Amino acid sequence: SEVKKIAVIAGDGIGPEVVREAEKVLKRTEELFGYRFETEHALFGGIAIDEKGTPLPEETLEVCKKADAVLLGAVGGPKWDNNPKELRPETGLLGIRKALGLFSNLRPAVVFDCLKDASTLKPEVLEGTDLIVVRELTGGIYFGEKFRRDSEQGQEAVDTCAYNVSEVERIVRQAFEIAGKRRKKLASVDKANVLETSRLWREVVNRVAPEYPDVELEHVLVDNCAMQLLRRPASFDVIVTENMFGDILSDEAAMLTGSIGMLSSASLGEGSFGLYEPVHGSAPDIAGQNKANPIATILSVALMFRMTFGYEDAADAIEKAVKDVLDAGHRTGDIAVDKTAAIGTDAMGDLIVAAMTSKASSA
Ligand code: NAD
Ligand code: IPM
Ligand code: MN
Repeated sequence: SEVKKIAVIAGDGIGPEVVREAEKVLKRTEELFGYRFETEHALFGGIAIDEKGTPLPEETLEVCKKADAVLLGAVGGPKWDNNPKELRPETGLLGIRKALGLFSNLRPAVVFDCLKDASTLKPEVLEGTDLIVVRELTGGIYFGEKFRRDSEQGQEAVDTCAYNVSEVERIVRQAFEIAGKRRKKLASVDKANVLETSRLWREVVNRVAPEYPDVELEHVLVDNCAMQLLRRPASFDVIVTENMFGDILSDEAAMLTGSIGMLSSASLGEGSFGLYEPVHGSAPDIAGQNKANPIATILSVALMFRMTFGYEDAADAIEKAVKDVLDAGHRTGDIAVDKTAAIGTDAMGDLIVAAMTSKASSA
């Protein structure tokens, strides 16, 4: 079959550790299904600041643009935390999302039955939880004008939040489409009781909604949503929201699954091109210790197969392998109830690879 080009940007902290395991999955997929991948590695984040003087080198962006999809680990760390804005790993992350036009960030949170006791929440509350946060990714307060100025009470900092109708409409339509293919429930999350951007957001949602009559819509204020996610997580299907609310609510949703080490994501634009990354960061507290859970990154590969390549069989194989390995009781530290029995990042990756089978060979 046709060779698919994947740009691999491992980044900082646990980024390289989890990406290494995801690459094993790519290799195993080639063996099992005959698909072919050509990977090209590029520097990004803190390591790119150290080696190239910028978090997002032009050549890294070129490697991504030439590729069919991007696999990303994570960026950031204490070493660069006091750098000026242009020399921050996080600025590179915002830059790559913007430069590649990735306005839509899908973050599924699915509770595996066997992990119900890994969560801090009661198992009966988690029962049946299967939701997806659709986060707007290239607008809002992240990208608005930022500056400092002097005021009578000392220095003042300003972050502006702006959204225009078309930015809201494209993400909202995508969320309605996704909901239409799932349980047909959409929660639009905003702060329309206070914010002008939220009032515009809600207007757009209400204008577009009649075009999707089979999708049941609810508007939820973000503070209430944060609460309802813990109170009735299983009642949510698709949640659509602006950039910063989506950032915060998706980390909260991660805890339903037991660990942020379980949450995958897809960042998409208008076409099939996508960037796939775990929702978590570079986890400096456990970096370099072979402790990170690689499942979020491995499940991001499954999303890549499904959403960019249309390789449903391989995506299913990965998701089934993850489930089988968890069902068999294997746990990294973040999801282990008995921490002394936890296995390492590499062992978890190897077990998942070993559990992968093509449908034909398992039949
Ligand atoms: P984090 O997600 O890196 O870590 C939060 C907590 O979760 C830590 O205790 C960490 O050990 C744990 N954790 C995260 N991923 C894990 C995994 N795969 N397995 C097991 N445990 C895991 O968030 P943070 O500590 O707030 O941020 C650390 C750095 O990462 C910061 O520089 C931040 O800007 C950056 N960051 C980057 C991304 C990204 O690259 N997409 C996302 C979030 C944060
Ligand atoms: C994420 C991260 C990033 C974000 C940071 C590191 C810029 O938290 O991908 O969720 O806020 O988008
Ligand atoms: Mn985040």
